Amino acid sequence: MSGPLVLGIESSCDETGVGIVRGHELLANEVASSVDLHVRFGGVVPEVASRAHLEALLPTLHRAAERAAAAADVDLTEIDAVSVTAGPGLMGALVVGLAGAKALAWALDKPLYAVNHLAGHVAVDLLEHGPLPQPAVALLVSGGHTSLLRVDDVATSITEVGATIDDAAGEAYDKVARLLGLSYPGGPVIDRAATGDPAAIAFPRGLTLRRDLERHRFDFSFSGLKTAVARWVEQREAAGLDVPVADVAASFQEAVCDVLSAKAIDACRELGSTDLLIGGGVAANSRLRALLAERAEQAGIALRRPRPGLCTDNGAMIAVLGAEVVDRGLAPSSFDVAANSSLP
Ligand code: KG4
Ligand code: ZN
Repeated sequence: MSGPLVLGIESSCDETGVGIVRGHELLANEVASSVDLHVRFGGVVPEVASRAHLEALLPTLHRAAERAAAAADVDLTEIDAVSVTAGPGLMGALVVGLAGAKALAWALDKPLYAVNHLAGHVAVDLLEHGPLPQPAVALLVSGGHTSLLRVDDVATSITEVGATIDDAAGEAYDKVARLLGLSYPGGPVIDRAATGDPAAIAFPRGLTLRRDLERHRFDFSFSGLKTAVARWVEQREAAGLDVPVADVAASFQEAVCDVLSAKAIDACRELGSTDLLIGGGVAANSRLRALLAERAEQAGIALRRPRPGLCTDNGAMIAVLGAEVVDRGLAPSSFDVAANSSLP
């Protein structure tokens, strides 16, 4: 057991997370979600999320502290640092976590590290698979982001090699779920509903034509796919026919996962990476995980898939990223550090 003992706080969207790690060892990971409060609005309502963070932060912190005490006899006064998501995310939501982290660091007289949420989605893999060979490629797929990243060092050097030019993959799932009359959040719901034939409908694969590949080899586009699903459903309804939800969901999901996995493997080849890591809420998707496993094996690439509960937003990802930052000897953040909703 080694490495810095760090408590991490996450509050960028609708999950209040508090995690505690010692290096790459997970000691506690408590998450309180306000997702149920947003269901009737069909998406996250920032004001509602901020208020929910305010109510959930202290109870979640207490639960995490109890867990760490039970798991490893760790007391909060022993931690080496507090890390917290500074962005990107919803401004009001970020501010709550940041204020809580500053208060805790101040009260315990520990250094504060304000870190990037997206780097946290990459770093969380260290908890399950240990140090990352370099360079590694990370496919980051969430509700707000879809990118291919070259990771030279989780704490200090992550470079974007491609990204979505319109909707994020999770956003496409959420929008298609809505137009199929399924509930929010759409990702897990479509994942479960996709029991039909993935080849039933040939939905478009965004940015995979030869002319697109010249400029957008590692970029993604999902808005055309969403429109194609909407048109297909409209035509079906106009003809007075039932919409076969299981087939539509499976075919849509196949189009998303086909492009994500093909471009991720291509990026590994291009960058000479033997390791592909996935992160973000959509990385919990069963079809994406299976298709990537198949294609990575064919290509001789090691696939690093954190368990689904670590792919969606949580505090452990921020804690382990904090531990990496401490380990590199980087300077702590000032207590004046501000939340940055559009942190790159
Ligand atoms: O990373 P995350 O928890 O929050 C953001 O930072 O955005 O990702 C949330 C997104 C949502 O769009 C949700 O629909 C999607 O991840 N998601 C999934 C699955 N579980 C969550 N998408 C596809 N399949 C899933 N099983
Ligand atoms: Zn996230």
